[in-house]
Amino acid sequence: MQVLISCVLILGFASPCLCGRWINVAKTNNNIFNVIAYGARGDGISDDTQAFLRAWNHTCGAEGTSTLVIPPKKLYFVNNLEFRGACKATSILIQIQYVNGLTIDGTRRGRINGHGSTWWQCKSCPRPRILSFYACNDLSVRNVRITNSPGAHGTINGCNRAKISNLDVQSPSHSPNTDGFDISSSKNILIEDSTIRTGDDCIAINGGSSYISVSRPTRFDSSTRVRVACGPGHGISIGSLGKGNSYETVEEVNVPNCSFTNTTNGARIKTFPGGSGYAKKITFEQIQLTNVKNTIIIDQHYGGKVATESYAGDLAINLDCMSCFNVVLDQVYIFSSQEKKEFHSFCKNFHGTIGSTIPRVYCK
Ligand SMILES: *[C@@H]1O[C@H](CO)[C@@H](O)[C@H](O)[C@H]1NC(C)=O
Ligand SMILES: *[C@@H]1O[C@H](CO)[C@@H](O)[C@H](O)[C@H]1NC(C)=O
Ligand SMILES: *[C@@H]1O[C@H](CO)[C@@H](O)[C@H](O)[C@H]1NC(C)=O
Repeated sequence: MQVLISCVLILGFASPCLCGRWINVAKTNNNIFNVIAYGARGDGISDDTQAFLRAWNHTCGAEGTSTLVIPPKKLYFVNNLEFRGACKATSILIQIQYVNGLTIDGTRRGRINGHGSTWWQCKSCPRPRILSFYACNDLSVRNVRITNSPGAHGTINGCNRAKISNLDVQSPSHSPNTDGFDISSSKNILIEDSTIRTGDDCIAINGGSSYISVSRPTRFDSSTRVRVACGPGHGISIGSLGKGNSYETVEEVNVPNCSFTNTTNGARIKTFPGGSGYAKKITFEQIQLTNVKNTIIIDQHYGGKVATESYAGDLAINLDCMSCFNVVLDQVYIFSSQEKKEFHSFCKNFHGTIGSTIPRVYCK
């Protein structure tokens, strides 16, 4: 594989719970290893692979907080670049921007550990993400294992054409705001054959995203297994959209053959009152639910007054709309995992078709 890198790539190491000051710490620490200092030219012609490896060697071998810096506005030519551990540093943050045609293959050996537990105690801290991609086109990320991220495990923002496969995310169910993968302002993104156990959304698909598929099988695919397994966590969510009266859109999202186990939610669309835009052409199909509290939710009052507070039991199906049109629910069968437990549905301001469902849905 040959890739041309034109980017700011920061492979940083941060000690946990610097609570909001981690960026400053990264700036002020002495362990900064700049690939230019190791002989990288960044002219798009010279082979910079060895310079990158030497810089990585020192970054990885340094104690405490250390950062590998690849300055922006240059074109790096690297060939089969392999960053190997084990490192002396305790946690790794990888931020990649403006890289086209990049493949990251974790080979399923080893695991990136964010050691996030001390961050989780501080709810208001802006927390680093372990793997973040910004403005990267034709990206492929595979066989990567990530655990205990301080914040979201992975983010994709402003990217076109990315395939994430064989991702393994593991964080405890009590870890707050540790989304598995967040997608925003991106298109043609495919996530498949992955397992995501976390304390927040398995996958969140945010504003500006289109043509997102979580597990669409290819035409030649004959596998019968579930392609993305979520749980524990908060399920797969479109949004939240429209925060702070913003205009946001999400369209063409396809979620087939996923499973949810021990999650608080299954399929969810959430929008803030006061926001505008749309979420359209979204399908969830062939979804398996096991021990899921709220399985199907359209919440257009997110962050606001909850219309459904009077329900004592779990709301299996909750269609709390302000304006929902052309929504189809069919062949939805949800049974309580606990005997004699009350099961409810809620439906308001809904325009669409309700086919066969258990529990029955009566719309106001
Ligand atoms: C990395 O460092 C080790 C020892 O610290 C050395 O043996 C190895 O050759 C170095 N590799 C590179 C690419 O500099
Ligand atoms: C889901 O998997 C089943 C086999 O379990 C397969 O028959 C079906 O085509 C798949 N559905 C979708 C929408 O991918
Ligand atoms: C779900 O919860 C049950 C009971 O607590 C547990 O035995 C099982 O391992 C959990 N499964 C997952 C995927 O978390």
